[in-house]
Amino acid sequence: MEKKICVITGGGSGMGLSTASLMGKTHYIIICGRTVNKLESAVERLQAEGVECEAFPCDVSDRASVKRLAEHAAALGEVQTVVHAAGMSPHMGTGEQIIQVNAMGTIYVNEEFAAVMGEGGCILDVSSMSAYLAPGLVMPKRAYKYALADQERFYRKMLGRVNLFPKKLRSSIAYVVSKNFDIWYAKKCAGVYGDKGIRVLSVSPGNFETPMGEAEKEEALGYLKYAAIKRLGNPDEIAWLLASCADERNSYLTGTDILCDGGLVAGR
Ligand SMILES: NC(=O)c1ccc[n+]([C@@H]2O[C@H](COP(=O)([O-])OP(=O)(O)OC[C@H]3O[C@@H](n4cnc5c(N)ncnc54)[C@H](OP(=O)(O)O)[C@@H]3O)[C@@H](O)[C@H]2O)c1
Repeated sequence: MEKKICVITGGGSGMGLSTASLMGKTHYIIICGRTVNKLESAVERLQAEGVECEAFPCDVSDRASVKRLAEHAAALGEVQTVVHAAGMSPHMGTGEQIIQVNAMGTIYVNEEFAAVMGEGGCILDVSSMSAYLAPGLVMPKRAYKYALADQERFYRKMLGRVNLFPKKLRSSIAYVVSKNFDIWYAKKCAGVYGDKGIRVLSVSPGNFETPMGEAEKEEALGYLKYAAIKRLGNPDEIAWLLASCADERNSYLTGTDILCDGGLVAGR
């Protein structure tokens, strides 16, 4: 394949789909997610825009599924960018499911893709502004290091923290804790994969108008009073940021998080 490859988890909708549309101007796109018909209509839409792309069903919470995706992508050509946008919000599942998808899923995606990527590669993990908003005491930061050495222990400790809270709060706690971990983990991975020439970053969106954002729209509008820009973000704005981070001209940018929230955290 002549074009370099960009794999986008959660590429069937929202920020992932907008990013596919933009990255598709320069890359061959592989979008993945769990819902096949959603992926099929996304591929139709992208192809109508002239994007060369395909769908590959994958559940990021299942390491074997992520490994199949990474090996498939690498067999097609050089994987230059991975945008890991797949994620579950608090209203989409239990605390356990959210830790499995948002935290374990990020470990699987970064590890499996780093194994098939090389010099000039870039992995972008999508976190969330909410990682900045919850009190630091909630975050089981001392458990994060086990993600590198003992993933079962890491999972138990993350879940242990979530289960300290009343049942009705657990999915929200799991969301902020998993997204806070994603920022820490992307920074660690930048060091671990730096010698291979792979950059790793996280991007933390504020409130955006996507299918996921729709379910939390009322709450998000309430928070706008703190923001410098008094509107929700458009997914094309995050796509632009992700594509800029991935651009090879940004070759010194790694090991950091970029918060894109219309100035909300700064105004709180
Ligand atoms: N929208 C916001 O305001 C906002 C704010 C902060 C952070 N974020 C983060 O931004 C990212 C993108 O979200 P979005 O707003 O664009 O929402 P979205 O449109 O719901 O996109 C999320 C995508 O992830 C996929 N997905 C979920 N679980 C998956 C799994 N286990 N394996 C593979 N794919 C999975 C979903 O497809 P399937 O269900 O078909 O698998 C869906 O297409 C998420 O990580 C989210 O946490 C969003």
